Amino acid sequence: MITKCLFPVAGYGTRFLPATKSMPKEMLPVVNKPLVQYGVEEALEAGLKDIGFVTGRGKRAIADHFDVSYELEHQIAGSDKEKYLESIREVMSKGSFSFTRQRDMRGLGDAILNGYRLIGDEAFGVVLSDDLCVAEEGVLSQMVKLYKQFRCSIVAVQEVPEDQISKFGVIGGEQIKDGIYQVNEMVEKPNPEDAPSNLAIIGRYILTPDIFEILRDTPPGKNNEVQLTDALMTQAQNGCVLAYKFKGRRFDCGSVEGFVTATNYVYENLYNP
Ligand code: UTP
Repeated sequence: MITKCLFPVAGYGTRFLPATKSMPKEMLPVVNKPLVQYGVEEALEAGLKDIGFVTGRGKRAIADHFDVSYELEHQIAGSDKEKYLESIREVMSKGSFSFTRQRDMRGLGDAILNGYRLIGDEAFGVVLSDDLCVAEEGVLSQMVKLYKQFRCSIVAVQEVPEDQISKFGVIGGEQIKDGIYQVNEMVEKPNPEDAPSNLAIIGRYILTPDIFEILRDTPPGKNNEVQLTDALMTQAQNGCVLAYKFKGRRFDCGSVEGFVTATNYVYENLYNP
């Protein structure tokens, strides 16, 4: 049983400056809900109720979002405005929320390693909340089912066009079932000519706990950051890592263009005032 899910939220969000100068990227609202809440709702739907955040300086708003606001509650108690708090109240009643800090932003791999204190020696989910996923069955739920079957690390992948490939970690592997690949190659942000496939890793993972030991020994890679992709490659060489072509749609809300597309999509299809 997987019950824990890690949210690395320590990044600077430079692509959204100046909005992210004093506000966490993860709190940017897609319509009326902050990005990170979509991710947490997806984790809860998958049964991952112990939510751990790896935060950094200037990210206190995330902790406040998942805590009670007595003043606000008092102010609107009994009024017709209470309905606006329903979704976050539900999230808070279902999950438990823990926090640790990444002191130096040394990359996603380092952020995950910092999360060891919250996870310990068990398999766990990872959500990068700037990837907003919309699916009939949540992407993490799909992956948890797969984990029960295969018991190894799983990365969610999607096909991307050649001119986009250098923005992603890319896998190479052997298809063992429809949409499921045994990974034997992984490259972080490759030039299109060096990419092993058009299957790009997006921000959803299930990781087995040996990843922590591997991350401790993984030197900084591309951009001088500890790359989760490098650690996953070692894990694939030692044992098994699967890539899963998830069912659903992903929006890259870390970029302005993806964020606007997601906002329009959510407003037209999911927003229920
Ligand atoms: P990104 O590559 O999107 O970086 O990180 P970023 O800082 O958030 O955004 P830009 O590129 O400057 O605009 C992917 C995920 O990894 C987390 C981020 O918070 C994001 O969820 N991360 C990245 C960390 O937690 N720590 C790091 O040192 C780096």
